[in-house]
Amino acid sequence: MVTAYDYPSAVHGDLAGIDMLLVGDSVAMVVHGHDTTLPVTLDEMIMHCRAVSRGTQRPFLVGDMPFGSYESSPQQAVDAAVRIMKEGQMDGIKLEGGGPPRAGTAAAIVSAGIAVMGHVGLNPQSISVLGGFRPQGQSASDAMRVIKEARALRDAGCFSLVLECVPPQVAQAVTQAVDIPTIGIGAGPHTSGQVLVYHDLLGMMQHPHHAKVTPKFCKPFGQVGTIVQHALQDYRKEVTARVFPGPEHTPYRMGDGEANKLVQLLKQEGLHEVADQVDHETARW
Ligand code: KIV
Repeated sequence: MVTAYDYPSAVHGDLAGIDMLLVGDSVAMVVHGHDTTLPVTLDEMIMHCRAVSRGTQRPFLVGDMPFGSYESSPQQAVDAAVRIMKEGQMDGIKLEGGGPPRAGTAAAIVSAGIAVMGHVGLNPQSISVLGGFRPQGQSASDAMRVIKEARALRDAGCFSLVLECVPPQVAQAVTQAVDIPTIGIGAGPHTSGQVLVYHDLLGMMQHPHHAKVTPKFCKPFGQVGTIVQHALQDYRKEVTARVFPGPEHTPYRMGDGEANKLVQLLKQEGLHEVADQVDHETARW
């Protein structure tokens, strides 16, 4: 079973034994606060890829090609993919879509020596033509389209495929019809592996924006958002009540001799009230 997860903002070296890590363009929504994945730029993706690569050793790292970085021509796509590999320090890239032009683009990137992950079913970068984040493959003919796109990407040399928001029979059919691993998200249990967005699986949904964009197929395996919210509330309360920082979190002290010298220097400057306060504080610490 291949497990994968999506963009972590802070990652731990071995990632709980997870095999693959996708720096997904969903970072636009869960980190940058956009309503779709479209606005994130290639430079922003590369910045996130580099940060993730610095925080990990073991998992295979895949960097998402953002909207606008690969549609114009195979040359544009290869150039962008090379940047993700070289500057972003990834092991491979992912692109969305499996129609004839996209399979050709995938083949061009593979020919450049770069491992390519495909992505069929719901392609969030295409919501403009899809009319929103809608499940795909729910009719027999649309299911066949998804299966054909998956096979075209396999033929183009993709090493793996993301299957997003399709019925379980369709995910199973794709998984059987291609001889590369399928990684499902909102596609039921019959894929070779699963991927979830880091912020969704950790339950970082306290923020209203996260609550708005968390998809219904997502299971939160933690309630990190609630923990963060409580920590922030406690911090504010203690600061307001002047409980924090107490003596145990006030580590830097003046030697008595230096504090007394400071009192004298302040008095020489005519700052008598300030000097009195310093004197008073010195006795306290
Ligand atoms: O960007 C992303 O998070 C993705 C996943 C949905 C696979 O592409």
